[in-house]
Amino acid sequence: MIPNMNYRNLKESYLFYNIAQKTNTYLEAHPGTHLYRMGIGDVSLPLCDAVIQKLHEAVEDQAHKTTFHGYMPECGDMELRRTIAAYYHKRGVNISNEEVFVSSGASDELGDILDLFGKEKTVLIMEPAYPAYVDANVIAGNTVIHIPAGEENGFVPDPDPGIAADVIYICSPNNPTGAVFSRTALQAWVDYANKMNAVILFDAAYEAFIEEDEIPHSIFEIPEARTCAIEICSLSKTAGFTGTRCGYTVIPKELSRGGMNLNQMWVRNRTTKTNGVSYIIQKGAVAVFTEEGQRQIRHGIEIYKKNGACLMEALDRLGIWYCGGKNAPYIWMKCPNGMGSWEFFDYLLNEIQVVGTPGEGFGACGEGYFRFSTFGSPEDTKEAARRLELLLQK
Ligand code: MLT
Repeated sequence: MIPNMNYRNLKESYLFYNIAQKTNTYLEAHPGTHLYRMGIGDVSLPLCDAVIQKLHEAVEDQAHKTTFHGYMPECGDMELRRTIAAYYHKRGVNISNEEVFVSSGASDELGDILDLFGKEKTVLIMEPAYPAYVDANVIAGNTVIHIPAGEENGFVPDPDPGIAADVIYICSPNNPTGAVFSRTALQAWVDYANKMNAVILFDAAYEAFIEEDEIPHSIFEIPEARTCAIEICSLSKTAGFTGTRCGYTVIPKELSRGGMNLNQMWVRNRTTKTNGVSYIIQKGAVAVFTEEGQRQIRHGIEIYKKNGACLMEALDRLGIWYCGGKNAPYIWMKCPNGMGSWEFFDYLLNEIQVVGTPGEGFGACGEGYFRFSTFGSPEDTKEAARRLELLLQK
């Protein structure tokens, strides 16, 4: 038996695993120390009441013969698919229920979706980028073209008509830089993808953090995206589902390549490879989109935004360059005094017990930058900002 030899081409371990190892080593050497964790974007607030109530009801349903559910529809419960389609309609984006696929989260889906593209594809990834994009493609044996983004283009690169690709990743609001793609920037990528016969995988996991009205929440706000894009979204950051797991994927019925319809292919894929997301979780997910659920999750997002404001104020006072934080739950800062990003990671961990994410972990052009997540508790974030300011003032 020959295993998938592409694993040899991966970095030795995954970014957030490396960070967890480093912090665990620190804790072993300094038992009982409290760490201010602003590394991985894991939420700190519990699920909102509307969701919890629905989850309880759904658990109760499973206790009785008359309300019990076994296998769920593989592409998602129609109530949730309808609810998500209605969420898009409210923003003026028309998608049908059958174009929505319920998933167990965006990170799972971003890897699984590569099943649609066949072997040895060329994939364009704008970096710095969420490292799972690269890893999933390395495992699949695809060729990755790294498109560097930087301060000079506001971390929003334009398409280069001289480069051909089969698949293009766009994440807006961006993880890790917090940059957002304007309508004009998205239109340029959509036109490029349609011309190249490529497919855009649009990661919209952070759409709920957008503050500015003119920034698109969905790539389908660009009408021509219906022939070239798949949108992958998640309730992890929007509604605190990192440990509960639920997301959704939108594949328009017009999306075809090589005479094959990608919506139909995904139905075929899901019906083979999954037995659907749990009944209980899907019931909880429906509650996110109710009026009450939306009010409650907005409250949580506001708390994270206050965390962001607290960190940004500290960086402003220090005169350190950063971006993000406004339309996204990540702040992307320049490491002070020309420090390398892992060097700065160690410095913060050792000196003030603050954990962030080194920019280099998101690709080579992230070197010299550092990412703070705003998903920590307000108390920890406040203290981390205070410690950071004190340390860097020196
Ligand atoms: C991150 O910190 O980049 C995200 O939390 C990772 C993820 O969503 O899996």
